[in-house]
Amino acid sequence: MIQSLLLPTHKVAVIIFLLHYVIKTFLLLINKPEALKKYTAGTKVLEMIISVLFLFTGVWLMVEKGSPSTLQIIKFTLVALSIPIAIIGFKKSNKAMAVTALLFIIGAYGLAEMNKANKKKAALKATVEATRDVVTDPAAAGYNAVKHGEYVYNNISGVPCKSCHGADGKAMIGGAKDLSITTLDKEGIKSAIKNGQNGGKMPPYGSLQPAEYDALAEFVLSLKK
Ligand code: HEC
Repeated sequence: MIQSLLLPTHKVAVIIFLLHYVIKTFLLLINKPEALKKYTAGTKVLEMIISVLFLFTGVWLMVEKGSPSTLQIIKFTLVALSIPIAIIGFKKSNKAMAVTALLFIIGAYGLAEMNKANKKKAALKATVEATRDVVTDPAAAGYNAVKHGEYVYNNISGVPCKSCHGADGKAMIGGAKDLSITTLDKEGIKSAIKNGQNGGKMPPYGSLQPAEYDALAEFVLSLKK
């Protein structure tokens, strides 16, 4: 429950934080010290709440993922640097510093978005080729979710599941988990497939059909004996 709220909360906090700093920097740049003072005073509590939320959810997300990626470390460093620069910049009404801090935050945001777009592209490549002798329509007669799942498992384009997990799910190539002893339930398995795990070591397959996620999960569960 809390975990599923983490990422959306982080995103909303980042966007409000960004807008807030754009407004402040803008007021500083157009030489409106009175307006800036008023705005700053009026948003003091909001700024505190948003900053705490933003940093707290960000750090939590990073810790949860285990090993942070290089990109996350760069992102984190940019944000961490931007904070003292922004504080000093606004205190001294130093435009260059305020703009630098804003650029750092925008840079971190841009990096995150870029990374997301790349991941999406990679996941989109994975599609399941047409099948000849496996029924893939859950509504059709003779449909067997485990069989359908097995087909997808072995034939999905890009990197098929079996190349890391093996045909029986027990191969642990490249740190892959033994699927025959997974403790995840059906929803957990579907989420692992859809979103990936451990910073992409288990790659996300984000663009499959709902029936394909269901079938894959049924197949993975059938590996448990
Ligand atoms: C490039 C290698 C690779 C491919 C391809 C791959 N996986 Fe994984 N998978 C992993 C790794 C590594 C983990 C463990 C991630 C971790 O440490 O949390 C994992 C974890 C999982 C888990 C979670 C198990 C658990 O108990 O936490 C499931 C379920 C899973 N994979 C299913 C699949 C399915 C289904 C496919 C194909 C659609 C697939 N994997 C393709 C490497 C891969």
